[in-house]
Amino acid sequence: MGIDQSRILITGGAGFIGTHLAERLSGQAKEVILFDNGRRDSLSLAPHLRAHPRIKFIAGDTLDKSSVAAAFDGGIDIVLHLAAIAGVSSYYQEPLKTLQVNILGTVNVLDEAARRGIAHFVDFSTSEIFGSDAMWVTEEMPCGIGASSERRWVYATSKLATEHFSLRYGETHGFAATVVRPFNIYGPRQTGEGAISNFCRAALEGKPLKVYGDGSPVRAWCYVSDTVDAIERILQRREQATGVFNIGNPREIETTLGLARRIARLVPGTSIEFEAVSRAEVRARVPVIERARTILGYEPKVDLEQGLNSTLQWFSQAKGAVR
Ligand SMILES: NC(=O)c1ccc[n+]([C@@H]2O[C@H](COP(=O)([O-])OP(=O)(O)OC[C@H]3O[C@@H](n4cnc5c(N)ncnc54)[C@H](O)[C@@H]3O)[C@@H](O)[C@H]2O)c1
Repeated sequence: MGIDQSRILITGGAGFIGTHLAERLSGQAKEVILFDNGRRDSLSLAPHLRAHPRIKFIAGDTLDKSSVAAAFDGGIDIVLHLAAIAGVSSYYQEPLKTLQVNILGTVNVLDEAARRGIAHFVDFSTSEIFGSDAMWVTEEMPCGIGASSERRWVYATSKLATEHFSLRYGETHGFAATVVRPFNIYGPRQTGEGAISNFCRAALEGKPLKVYGDGSPVRAWCYVSDTVDAIERILQRREQATGVFNIGNPREIETTLGLARRIARLVPGTSIEFEAVSRAEVRARVPVIERARTILGYEPKVDLEQGLNSTLQWFSQAKGAVR
């Protein structure tokens, strides 16, 4: 069984990437169950998903074992585990909560997955596990998380822990386990933090684009539909697609200032302001995606210009509705 006839549980399913996965997978799966505590809500911006006959929403928190158990009722074949606290400001404002949700919440979901005998668990980790300088990194390179005195690293630490938990639970309990490390995903319905969503919102509200530091940090930008392609391919190739995959678009590399300038060009009249940074910076983050290319036949298709246009268009239509 691949995607067809599967019941797929997406934790964090009401979030940005979760709603895009639900949109694509509901065309093939028997049922897609979105489990979310409402910390973020991209689902309310996609009423067609709320009304979809094969998409079901369950409100619940990964830290609450009984609500996690209820999400598995009726049988689950595949778990896509996205529920997490993500967004740089949260690491500073809620560092302990970030560790608790991202580690303990994941273990609760893995425990239930093992108890119910699922077939495939896909854990959403992050490119942040590579630390401050992550230029052309492969899956096998050492992780470079910074000092524990710096709150910034609670997120990366929690995600690295869940990579190990996911792989080890899979080995121990006999289900396929895949870890994906997304590299800077953007697109419509990104209600949380992210340079592109922040810049789009500010530009459309007529506010200056705030660039922190000198704007030289580099990222590879991956449009959300390309991320969904990778996940779909992972689910279609369960036997081969275990272990860790970098998922991103290494052809679409841009500095933060370059990104601000592109958006300022697309929304005429937008100005750019610089603001000093006092916190740990990630200077570069660009993946090597050869493993995904070889095993999954994955190739990102959407270039930055195209992706920025569609994202801006969506933010402009959703203006007022995005919290
Ligand atoms: N967007 C990116 O560029 C990116 C990059 C690297 C990794 N990731 C990872 O991918 C996953 C999805 O990211 P996203 O951009 O869609 O983020 P998102 O914040 O939009 O989605 C996460 C969802 O999890 C939910 N959630 C949070 N805590 C929960 C809890 N305790 N119980 C149940 N639900 C909870 C939130 O309400 C939210 O809807 C996350 O695990 C994130 O860490 C994203």
